[in-house]
Parts: sequence; C-alpha cells; structure tokens
Amino acid sequence: MLRMVDVGGMRYRVVDEGLGPAILFVHGFPLDHTMWAAQVAEFSRTNRVIAPDLRGFGGTDGTLYAVSMQQFADDLEELLIALEVERPITFCGLSMGGYIAWQFVLRHPQWVERLILCDTRAAGDSPEAASNRLKMADIVTKEGPEPVVWAMMPKLFSRMTTERRPEIAEQVRQTVMNTNPLAIAAAHRGMAIRPDVTEQLPNFHLPTLVLVGEHDAISPPAEMMGIANALPNARFVQIPDAGHMAPMEDPVAVNRAIRDFLVMTR
Ligand code: MLT
Repeated sequence: MLRMVDVGGMRYRVVDEGLGPAILFVHGFPLDHTMWAAQVAEFSRTNRVIAPDLRGFGGTDGTLYAVSMQQFADDLEELLIALEVERPITFCGLSMGGYIAWQFVLRHPQWVERLILCDTRAAGDSPEAASNRLKMADIVTKEGPEPVVWAMMPKLFSRMTTERRPEIAEQVRQTVMNTNPLAIAAAHRGMAIRPDVTEQLPNFHLPTLVLVGEHDAISPPAEMMGIANALPNARFVQIPDAGHMAPMEDPVAVNRAIRDFLVMTR
C-alpha cells in the first residue's frame, strides 16, 4: 500500500506492505521507491516492507539546499517511529541508500539487526569527484534533471540489460526526468561531503550481505569485495550479468540472495 505520512512537517510517500519483521528498502540517487518493486512484491509475503521516497525525491517533499547522509538517516528514523515500526529492522540500501545505511547504523544502532548493502561504497568522494558533484548540482538547478540523465544512464546497467531489457533503463530514465531538480542538487551536495567510513568497517559487527552486479561501473565488485572483507560478519554475493542497478536488472537472483541471507541469519 502506498501511503502519504506526515513526519515533522514533511510529507512522505512510502510503501508500507505486509506483516512480520520489517525490512527498510532505501533507494539510490536520483530515484524513488519504484526501483524496489520486485523486492516489495517478494518480501511483503513474509515481512513488513517499508520503501520510502527520500526527502525531496518521488512523492516526498521537504528538500533543502543540501541534504547530508546523516540528515537522510535521521529522517528515516523519524519515519519508522511515525509508522510505529517494530524494532529491530533489516536495512537494505542501494548506492546512496548504502551511504545512508552506514550513517543510520552509526546514529541509530538500536534499530538495525542486519544490513544489506547493494552496489554501494564505503569511501567518500575524492576532491575531484566532490567538485564535479557541486558543479552538477548548480547545472541541474538551472537546467533540470536532463544533464544527470546523460551523465548517469551509461553507468547504471550492464550491456546485457541495456540490450535485452531496455524497458528497465527507460523506467529509470523516466524516474530521473520526473525528479525535482532541487532534490537532485541537494543530494549531490550531501554526497560530496559524505563521511568516508572505510576505517570504521571493522566496527560494523552486524550480519551483512554485500551484494553487487558483476558489471557495476560505479561501485565495482573488487571494491565491494574489499568492503565485505573488512566487515567482521559479511557475506559477499555477485550477481552475474547485472550492473549498478542489480535489484532491477536481475530481481530473481537478488531476491534469492536476500532470502538466503535472511534465512541464514534468522
Ligand atoms: C546512486 O546510485 O545512488 C549513485 O550512483 C550514488 C553516487 O552518485 O555516488
């Protein structure tokens, strides 16, 4: 069920479906909850699935000049409280959703019993990457989302997805084109200053699934394997023939990996 919920003056759009231990699905940049459609369908059979649109994205309002990963994490805690979600939850984030996951665990550890990190990074931006993000934030504010579509689309999918399932790329393109440019700019500014958590990885003791598409061009398998190796309690799964958007590109394989992980860590 898609709900609109008021949280501290912000109006959130969020999928809240199913019963059982809660799984929070946090989307990547600059998308919304629709990227998790296949996971919502599968896991709402056994779990309470919460899949929000983050501040400013999709149908949620409240964007600011810059939104830090810490701010997104605090927003999510308020949302979980407003929805009266029972603790503890499984936190599943993709890419920017993973950057938020680190901050959520650091700031609200009492909420999380396991982590699923899809196609994400522990490192912060290099000075050059950060400066490019700040430039892009200004461009998008003036010109709308199209420059982000041009910059990102070639990096999001494996060649196989682009050739065999072009409708997925089209769905993502539409989502980005419909996204509030101010929210895109705000998240870019937030990601540019996100903390590097590499040195802290040995302190993340939660059972963690580290999942990556074989051809992810943004958070490549070697880098994600490095994250899994640095975490004390992680399992690494690579999804063949998928790219950065693995949960959309091969939902069957991704759902199987998540299901196995949930059973194994029950
Ligand atoms: C995402 O998919 O959320 C983005 O690739 C994150 C980023 O730009 O670093």
